[in-house]
Amino acid sequence: MSPFPLLRLLSHEDFRPGPQLAEALGVSRASVSLALKSAAELGVEVQAVKSRGYKLTRPLDWLDEPIVARQLAEKARFFDLHCFDEIDSTNIALIAKAHASAPSGLCYAAERQTAGRGRRGRVWHGVPGDTLMFSLLWRFNLGMADLSGLSLTVGLAVVRALQKLGIHGAALKWPNDIVTSTGKLGGILIELSGDTLGPSAVVIGIGLNVGLCKEARQAVDQPVDALRSLGYPGDRNTLLAALLSELACLLPAFERDGFAPLRQEWESHHAMQNQAVRLLMPNGDVLQGTARGVNTHGALRFETENGEQQFHSGEISLRSAI
Ligand code: BTN
Repeated sequence: MSPFPLLRLLSHEDFRPGPQLAEALGVSRASVSLALKSAAELGVEVQAVKSRGYKLTRPLDWLDEPIVARQLAEKARFFDLHCFDEIDSTNIALIAKAHASAPSGLCYAAERQTAGRGRRGRVWHGVPGDTLMFSLLWRFNLGMADLSGLSLTVGLAVVRALQKLGIHGAALKWPNDIVTSTGKLGGILIELSGDTLGPSAVVIGIGLNVGLCKEARQAVDQPVDALRSLGYPGDRNTLLAALLSELACLLPAFERDGFAPLRQEWESHHAMQNQAVRLLMPNGDVLQGTARGVNTHGALRFETENGEQQFHSGEISLRSAI
């Protein structure tokens, strides 16, 4: 049984007795126990006290379409937002919608993804209530070749949104990880379809750690961080509205002028600007050099003792050399 109908009946303030929950859901006590077990497996903590019942150990701000629309105000007209409890992957679902001619601005957000996708074929883990996971379908009159700076533009939209919310300490790691000095805060997965000459349909998937429970930290094989550790109280609807609002500005600007006017601002947020780095190549090679920023198409300018080379994102990963 999906744990979501049960979780939606719980609050972090008052206990609700098991029999009452079973009756409200029209299921047996055993089903309630099973749902609680699967909630725990997803990383949502529920406190159980004999004779009192169950409550959440901390507040869970469910993703809510009307709240996001209200906060977007006049920019809400750019988006058609749908929030799901569970979905395979918001990217996978929107790619299917793109092929079925869905319009630009369709946006799917989810509490849980059963097949969340990350870059370089990785799995993306999220925890209901703790991770913001959403994808946006956007249509450009540009050809695929003109979209090379798009993923960096989206990274910049994320940093701008965080700054507007008063969250400081987030930076970008080429091509489009969002990081702090402690670890990865989030990532962006852009999946494209279209013609060389255009138009193109783009699915922009963004995952951001708002909080991080023990299960989430253990599920990933790299250092991670969360917005709560940067002082953000954790309201995901406000965060989603702020991100969509920046995307509503930057995506049309990118379509009109490309990445070039945004290059300097992007570099000012680059966590590894002018630092000694290693480039992990898809064939396993490791290159040593210095990250000199990006060119007007978003390619990494990488300086080695043999001169400067430029790399497009592809499957390359950038690491600190220290
Ligand atoms: C990365 O590897 O850094 C990119 C992570 C992108 C994750 C997001 S979560 C919403 C959207 N749906 C997915 O399946 N992936 C992206």
